Amino acid sequence: MTLIDGKATARAVRAELKTETERFERETGKKVGLAVVLVGNDPASQIYVKNKIKGCEETGIRSFAHYLPEDTTQEELLALIEGLVADENVHGILVQLPLPRHLDEGEVLKAIPPEKDVDGFHAENIGLLALGENGTVACTPLGVMELLKRYRVELSGKHAVVVGRSRIVGRPMALLLLNADATVTVCHSRTSDLKEQCLRADVLVAAVGKPRLITEDMVKKGAVVIDVGMNRTSQGLCGDVDFENVAKKAAYITPVPGGVGPMTIAMLLKNTVACARRKCK
Ligand code: GUN
Repeated sequence: MTLIDGKATARAVRAELKTETERFERETGKKVGLAVVLVGNDPASQIYVKNKIKGCEETGIRSFAHYLPEDTTQEELLALIEGLVADENVHGILVQLPLPRHLDEGEVLKAIPPEKDVDGFHAENIGLLALGENGTVACTPLGVMELLKRYRVELSGKHAVVVGRSRIVGRPMALLLLNADATVTVCHSRTSDLKEQCLRADVLVAAVGKPRLITEDMVKKGAVVIDVGMNRTSQGLCGDVDFENVAKKAAYITPVPGGVGPMTIAMLLKNTVACARRKCK
């Protein structure tokens, strides 16, 4: 069994990006810039945002952090985004989700134009992905693909099963695997035979947010198991996969933490550099 080390892989990606941002600066006289917007006090979001800013520092990206109070109005948030869209120094805009309930997430995300949409959430970027023409792709599924690539996991002709159909992970993940010539099955909360579907997987991606949903009896021997779950339980952080037991059957497996998580931020930084490059070609 090979343990897929997301932490080390993310570190390698960041080192490559540092070289890229230095070259960008030499060639254009500008710094790559990322704006990060956090509304409210959600503790998990605060940690994610802090790590995103730290990632910027490590890769030579100039970060513009905007911390807004919980009671920010839709108009105030849209006005901030409008300013960031117009700002030449900002190549990417990220609004941390989830937003407080009184704000309209769809309208906020629409305010970020596709060329500054480093999250890959804009309909145009999702449309390009659905057409098999990569625009900017959502960071978490992109991080999974990067891990599979760097660990030389063959996808062409393989059966990939994605558990979860969220906009942030499951859907774009399924499209990326399809674009890589895998045969793709998407399972979700209404799937009637989850175990049978999972047992067919050469590559199994769990992205549902249910602690230890995927057990040993649901995994084929020699499968590649990718755990996107980040569940905070009374015993600490755990994934969607029962790691200890599934690891005995898998050929490759990602741990939680230290698997997909660190890759998400590395891909955000990569998307930011790509947006800057496209703008300043
Ligand atoms: N919240 C959880 N994951 C993400 C992500 O990838 N991007 C943003 N903006 N918010 C998130």
